[in-house]
Amino acid sequence: MVCIRQATIDDLLAMQACNLMCLPENYQMKYYFYHMLSWPQLLFVAEDYGGRIVGYVLAKMEEDPSEPCHGHITSLAVLRSHRKLGLATKLMSAAQAAMDQVFGAEYVSLHVRRSNRAAFNLYTSTLGYQIHDIEAKYYADGEDAYDMRKMLRQPVPKKHHHHHHAGGGCCSHDALPAPAGSSPTTASPEKKADS
Ligand SMILES: CC(C)(COP(=O)(O)OP(=O)(O)OC[C@H]1O[C@@H](n2cnc3c(N)ncnc32)[C@H](O)[C@@H]1OP(=O)(O)O)[C@@H](O)C(=O)NCCC(=O)NCCS
Repeated sequence: MVCIRQATIDDLLAMQACNLMCLPENYQMKYYFYHMLSWPQLLFVAEDYGGRIVGYVLAKMEEDPSEPCHGHITSLAVLRSHRKLGLATKLMSAAQAAMDQVFGAEYVSLHVRRSNRAAFNLYTSTLGYQIHDIEAKYYADGEDAYDMRKMLRQPVPKKHHHHHHAGGGCCSHDALPAPAGSSPTTASPEKKADS
């Protein structure tokens, strides 16, 4: 049995270890802390019955006020021994749901290597992401990235407003539309029930 749960500070070393075993894109511990301290709702782990972390998703909200409120998947991996069990699908669904429900994200973005067929299939076939752009030589070794997106809710129409974002800005709780599911009319039509 493997369970998917929100990560805690105590999971960060195991998440980093999992990342090092699975991906060439690695991060300093302070980058994990930055995510955990800023958006604790968006970090999830897959934990096996022995308490071992076998997968994680590290995600964040983009806070550029010139762009619509959206989330970003920083990193996702599942240990080789636990692949093809649906764990990445569940980790991604959990992060996406939290972006939607907690932060009111309009869409989720991510980058994936052109050659990463497993991840590309996961994002397109299973999770419904679409290619938004191609970023040439995005990765340190010169490989191109697909810049992918998945819509979570209808875009919020742009209003004229004076820039009084004090204490908030994109994705602040003040700016939140009614939480998805709070009324049947606010739920996005493409939102699936979570696994
Ligand atoms: C990509 C990765 C996270 C997928 O994890 P996973 O838990 O095995 O994925 P799931 O079991 O949820 O698979 C869901 C779908 O992804 C696709 N998929 C997963 N592994 C695949 C593979 N080896 N080949 C082709 N498609 C694959 C399939 O469409 C699969 O659906 P299916 O089982 O109905 O065929 C995992 O392979 C991994 O950690 N790889 C190394 C790190 C990495 O590439 N991370 C993503 C960086 S952007």
